[in-house]
Amino acid sequence: MKIACIGAGYVGGPTMAMIAYKCPDIEVVVLDIAQARIDQWNSDKLPIYEPGLDEIVFEARGRNLFFSIDVEKHVGEADIIFISVNTPTKVRGVGAGAAADLTYWESAARTIAKACTSSKIIVEKSTVPVKTAEAVEKVLARNCVDKSIRFDILSNPEFLAEGTAIDDLKKPDRVLIGGRETESGLKAVATLKAVYERWVPSERVITANLWSAELSKLTANAFLAQRISSINAISALCEATGANVKQVSYAIGTDSRIGPKFLNASVGFGGSCFQKDILNLVYICESVGLKEVADYWRSVVTINDYQKDRFVNRMLEAMFNTVSGKRCAIFGFAFKKDTGDTRETPAIDVCHKLMADKAKIACYDPQVTEDQMIRDLSLDPYMWDHPAGQVTPKMTMVKQQFTTCKTAYEAAAGAHCIAIMTEWDEFKTLDYQKLYDGMVKPAYIFDGRNIVDPVKLREIGFVVYGIGQPLDPFVTESAF
Ligand SMILES: NC(=O)c1ccc[n+]([C@@H]2O[C@H](COP(=O)([O-])OP(=O)(O)OC[C@H]3O[C@@H](n4cnc5c(N)ncnc54)[C@H](O)[C@@H]3O)[C@@H](O)[C@H]2O)c1
Repeated sequence: MKIACIGAGYVGGPTMAMIAYKCPDIEVVVLDIAQARIDQWNSDKLPIYEPGLDEIVFEARGRNLFFSIDVEKHVGEADIIFISVNTPTKVRGVGAGAAADLTYWESAARTIAKACTSSKIIVEKSTVPVKTAEAVEKVLARNCVDKSIRFDILSNPEFLAEGTAIDDLKKPDRVLIGGRETESGLKAVATLKAVYERWVPSERVITANLWSAELSKLTANAFLAQRISSINAISALCEATGANVKQVSYAIGTDSRIGPKFLNASVGFGGSCFQKDILNLVYICESVGLKEVADYWRSVVTINDYQKDRFVNRMLEAMFNTVSGKRCAIFGFAFKKDTGDTRETPAIDVCHKLMADKAKIACYDPQVTEDQMIRDLSLDPYMWDHPAGQVTPKMTMVKQQFTTCKTAYEAAAGAHCIAIMTEWDEFKTLDYQKLYDGMVKPAYIFDGRNIVDPVKLREIGFVVYGIGQPLDPFVTESAF
């Protein structure tokens, strides 16, 4: 059997590497239009930082795992073709700021139609709007010259979480496969199911109809993001009442009906999926006339934006309502620990707001490069996943106010404040006395992830703000 995957990104790379690693007899080729990305996949420094990824790629690469830009050749030869291209939010035209931009998706479908001379199973791996499979069927049917060729479209959304992708792929909670309930559709589902059952217990490989599978992915992300916005909304109430959100989270999370996961209050969720997928869900609801349902889900994104605003407002209030010319150390830029991914990271919004108030930012992240941070800060909203968004005049302005540092200590030297944006483990064990000694006084810590101990840091002399935790008297006094 030969598998090809169009799109060598955060999903296509690791998922295909896992199939190749677990099934040495299946040839797997991961394809992309970006030569640089393929070169990185073929090098010693992979394009993605993900714990455990190097080991599985280095074992399978060259044996039965290959990375190539020769999309048409390998698509033409494959039995199963995964599509794992980016599906960003539309930035212009009808549905801008909400609907999924399916440009890359459609172009992948057209490539398949052009390259295929025999019947194939096509697997949607990208997160797509409901009924996308129907659109793919139409593109393939109208563009494939040989009418005897069959395309069975399956939906196999990916549920991995960045930072734990390899563990998630090795031991998934479930694998979901949706297909048409026809004879050939069911056969295609069985073929893909058999691949996963090589390492996933069969009761964890769930099958569904195509539309249920497509909608399940959007729904799963909406539910996860909703939990974060729910606890973040409560964090604001905690600050107003003297309650501690960590205690509230623990108390409610021990209820087995609620459960403890995704209940950490923070500066807000980020990542390439949550906001994009909720906005997509909102757009679909509006398209079918479900305004109330759309409004309900939109509020999850509204609270997320509110939380980021609230965080910066707390910073400004505490620092006498001005950060003009003040050095602000930003600890962490990635949207979560153990990944170098910065898409929709809250750090972008926080830095933007501080820079709008003329702050000087000194940022340290163990995985994100300076080029990546500057690019992210220079892009317009929703442009991060669009290749056209790479060049921007904003960059010159960003470079005047934003520098990167090689260590947390370097970032904090001479700073008025530290803002923790990512929960990297190393930030929990820094020598905070040393950091304090090198900072301008009063020295502030704004903990956007609730990872430091406010009591210990206050003993050192810091003014500490932790999301949803009782306010430092200093913060309250200077707030207005
Ligand atoms: N990142 C995640 O954690 C995650 C998790 C689950 C699902 N998803 C979904 O998976 C999909 C892919 O996400 P990602 O994070 O891997 O995106 P990505 O941007 O990292 O990778 C997509 C790749 O597809 C390539 N591409 C685009 N059009 C192409 C074409 N026509 N031919 C060949 N290559 C093409 C791009 O060059 C890019 O390298 C999205 O729909 C996303 O919503 C992502």
